[in-house]
Amino acid sequence: MKLFFHDYQPEFEDLSNTIQQGLQKFPKQLHPKLFYDAIGSQIFDRICAQPEYYVPTIEQQIYTTYAHEIIQHLPSNCQIIEPGAGSSKKIRVLLDQMQPNLYAPMDISAEHLRISAQKLSQDYPLLTIHAICVDHTQAYALPTEIPFSKRIFFYPGSSLGNFHPHEAIQFLQDLRNKVDLDGGLLIGIDTKKEHTILNNAYNDAAGATADFNLNLLQRINVELKSNIDINNFRHHAFYNAEKGRIEMHLFSETEQTIHINNNSFNFQADESIHTENSYKYTVAEFQALAAKSGWQSHKVWQDEKKYFSVHFLKPSKN
Ligand code: AVI
Repeated sequence: MKLFFHDYQPEFEDLSNTIQQGLQKFPKQLHPKLFYDAIGSQIFDRICAQPEYYVPTIEQQIYTTYAHEIIQHLPSNCQIIEPGAGSSKKIRVLLDQMQPNLYAPMDISAEHLRISAQKLSQDYPLLTIHAICVDHTQAYALPTEIPFSKRIFFYPGSSLGNFHPHEAIQFLQDLRNKVDLDGGLLIGIDTKKEHTILNNAYNDAAGATADFNLNLLQRINVELKSNIDINNFRHHAFYNAEKGRIEMHLFSETEQTIHINNNSFNFQADESIHTENSYKYTVAEFQALAAKSGWQSHKVWQDEKKYFSVHFLKPSKN
């Protein structure tokens, strides 16, 4: 048996409270981690297949082109730990060419994690997998089965962009505290680029991103037994150049009131719920952020158009 499952989810997460607190804020906002129920995680996989959402394709190209070189930077027999692993697709190109001591995917969605870890275990029967169900944006400790030495965190997909920069620093500092001097961080970061390309990536023609965003309301309807009319909201995302981020919103089509567990929330026409930020960084901006968090840039790989960057970082010496 080479597949182990660790469930660190709190038994009871007060979804009702989290959502109501977000809707009481001005402007209204909901945390992007709420996207990832089982359906949301599946829709996210659909987003990744949209031609406008270049992130996974280009990042994958970088791993495929440079896998050999990347692997040379990783210590042999390392422990690869992937927070927010989702479908564990990106790690495959590395696993095809190396045999780590173990691989530990972490994800907030237990069902999604279980399915993808089982699939991975079938495809890589010699690999030891420790699947950890946890909200990696909150404080957590890794299972004791994961040795402290040679830990390599793998954080692809530009997920760091979904943190506010000061939260990103805290998150990177936390990863730094979880590795020894022989550890490292391999991280994918989306770069700043022409605004049309960014805007199209988050407003794909097939409507996958819209479904992803609107599924948040569907989740409230199902889990909190509300009856929000989804057709009364529309998805829209845009690049905010001043803040260097894509903002994703759900705009109310009309003046309306929604009800959640006996509480009412009023919306003006065109009022929004801010559901996600996706920060974009130049290579130098990200290196500066990493340096503030105890990491030193070791190597950067990019595609020809420089749409995306993959960084290998090591703990700073001081
Ligand atoms: C998971 N994360 C890096 C995605 C992003 O690009 O910020 C989430 C996403 N939201 C809409 N499309 C993709």
